[in-house]
Amino acid sequence: MITEIALKKYPIKVALGNERTYEIRPLERSDKASLHRFFTRIPEEDRFYLKENVTAPEVVHDWIEAIDPSRVVSLVALDRDTIVADATLHRSRAPARRHVGELRVVVDPEHRGAGLGSKLIQELIDLGRRLELDRLFFELVDRREQDAISAAIGLGFEEVAVLRGRVKDSYGSLQDLAVLELSLDAEAEQLPF
Ligand SMILES: CC(C)(COP(=O)(O)OP(=O)(O)OC[C@H]1O[C@@H](n2cnc3c(N)ncnc32)[C@H](O)[C@@H]1OP(=O)(O)O)[C@@H](O)C(=O)NCCC(=O)NCCS
Repeated sequence: MITEIALKKYPIKVALGNERTYEIRPLERSDKASLHRFFTRIPEEDRFYLKENVTAPEVVHDWIEAIDPSRVVSLVALDRDTIVADATLHRSRAPARRHVGELRVVVDPEHRGAGLGSKLIQELIDLGRRLELDRLFFELVDRREQDAISAAIGLGFEEVAVLRGRVKDSYGSLQDLAVLELSLDAEAEQLPF
């Protein structure tokens, strides 16, 4: 219920430095084909490190059919009718872990560098506060996901751990996984509800 209330502010329009205006709103069931097309536009070298096989139609199908905002909140950004970014906040169902949320974000290469990724992360941080989470984290592959690391650090995340050799790159070489965390201060924002 609290998630539905927190999502009531959407859709919103944001104008960014590339002189484009994007609509940001929660993922909807009718987005299935558009979301699948979006992921096919993401370069293979970026997709390789994502946690899901996002171009498999059954993966997108399962996400959409199983939309459960108490577990995953998905925001999409649209340029007119086209999905050009996807950002998600993942929570565990287990009571011992529900106070933390994991963030993931992907932006269409044609729309990168204008602040869209940072804007979506900021939206998910605000959402995390409204959901009264204690902290948010990213797991990002060192150097391979450097833009995401820069964006997260720019928004106040701090590297709290490096898991050596946790990920294999497409050549089979071991790469480090950085864990970046942001502590959410419940006092920082007065909720309007
Ligand atoms: C990470 C990602 C979402 C950032 O999206 P974006 O819309 O480009 O984000 P922003 O425009 O807010 O830029 C974020 C940072 O990326 C870097 N960056 C973006 N565009 C850049 C460019 N053209 N040249 C150099 N650096 C650039 C900058 O460090 C920037 O931080 P800054 O604005 O503080 O300098 C996008 O690069 C992406 O989808 N990458 C592939 C997927 C991925 O790695 N996801 C993370 C796994 S969860």
